[in-house]
Amino acid sequence: MTEMEYTKLGSTGLEVSRLCLGCMNFGSDQPWMMNDEEASLELIDRALEMGINFLDTANVYSRGESEEIVGKAIEERNRDELVVATKVFGNMGDYPNGQGLSRKHVLDQAEASLDRLGTDYIDLYQIHRWDETTPIEETLSALDHLVETGKVRYVGASTMAAWQFTKALYESDSRDYERFTCMQPEYNLVDRHEEQNVLPVCESEGVGVIPWSPLAGGFLTGKYDRDEEVTEGRAAEDEHTEARFTNENWAVLAEVRAIAEEKGVTPAQVSLSWLLHKPVVDSPIVGPRTIDHLEENVESIDVSLTDEEIERLESPKSPVWSREIANI
Ligand SMILES: NC(=O)c1ccc[n+]([C@@H]2O[C@H](COP(=O)([O-])OP(=O)(O)OC[C@H]3O[C@@H](n4cnc5c(N)ncnc54)[C@H](OP(=O)(O)O)[C@@H]3O)[C@@H](O)[C@H]2O)c1
Repeated sequence: MTEMEYTKLGSTGLEVSRLCLGCMNFGSDQPWMMNDEEASLELIDRALEMGINFLDTANVYSRGESEEIVGKAIEERNRDELVVATKVFGNMGDYPNGQGLSRKHVLDQAEASLDRLGTDYIDLYQIHRWDETTPIEETLSALDHLVETGKVRYVGASTMAAWQFTKALYESDSRDYERFTCMQPEYNLVDRHEEQNVLPVCESEGVGVIPWSPLAGGFLTGKYDRDEEVTEGRAAEDEHTEARFTNENWAVLAEVRAIAEEKGVTPAQVSLSWLLHKPVVDSPIVGPRTIDHLEENVESIDVSLTDEEIERLESPKSPVWSREIANI
């Protein structure tokens, strides 16, 4: 059985497993989610049993349902052994201050997340996106307050322009507020735009990186074929996954499949291993929907790639960043 590995998150002293368990599938908001609390709890149990200590959820995942399921899963556990991450920003209600990063919404949602998670503190509290309508100093001051009062241990961010993230780091340094220690970008073999945006900032600032959609929503598992109609899998119901069916991406997948066959492993394992070989990456956030997916994904830790194989995997694409590509 694969032995879990651990790493420090960025330049913090916090130890996290080399794979983080994404909890977005635990809920019923979308047809492609698990929509099965018992199976979700079993999957979380198995992940913890395999040595994963790091869980990523968000207040908006099925409007609180994912956090509640995580809360049930950790209820009887030793809280000290777990690193629980959640997020704030998205719409939690159609009323003024029902979303965004105002001091009010951040503080209200931190309390609501603590309730749903059934815990006294959040290990990593992340801003899900940049809020164009709230000064970043206001958000930083609210996050700083949460750290000062012990409700949050570390603060992180997700998916924004490099200039915005750099500005946030500068503002926290100059005002002596808690600094973002972690960035959560979309990053996988077919979505490499962040190499031209936020990843160089993370590298030079010692910010931890925890990539989301590390298997491109399932595309990189090789479950889809170029000329076949999609009848099952997330792509059948999720346009974001289907949008990855481009000529360039099929060329990447062809290399993934060839290398997987040469090594006697699966395309998902090669794809996750590629991320694990990137020095800037701490812990990809895997989103298994079944225990079989989870076990297959965890085994990627045992797969090693040569420089030549990494070159082959990267050669079909030249990453470019734009707001449109990043979907922000
Ligand atoms: N910060 C953000 O804005 C943001 C955005 C998205 C996600 N996230 C985080 O990142 C986590 C992971 O994202 P993701 O769900 O998009 O990750 P992903 O790993 O790229 O895709 C997960 C999907 O791929 C399929 N899959 C996974 N492992 C498989 C395997 N071994 N074999 C076959 N199919 C497999 C499953 O879909 P099917 O079986 O249904 O095909 C699963 O639902 C989320 O849970 C969340 O915590 C954050």
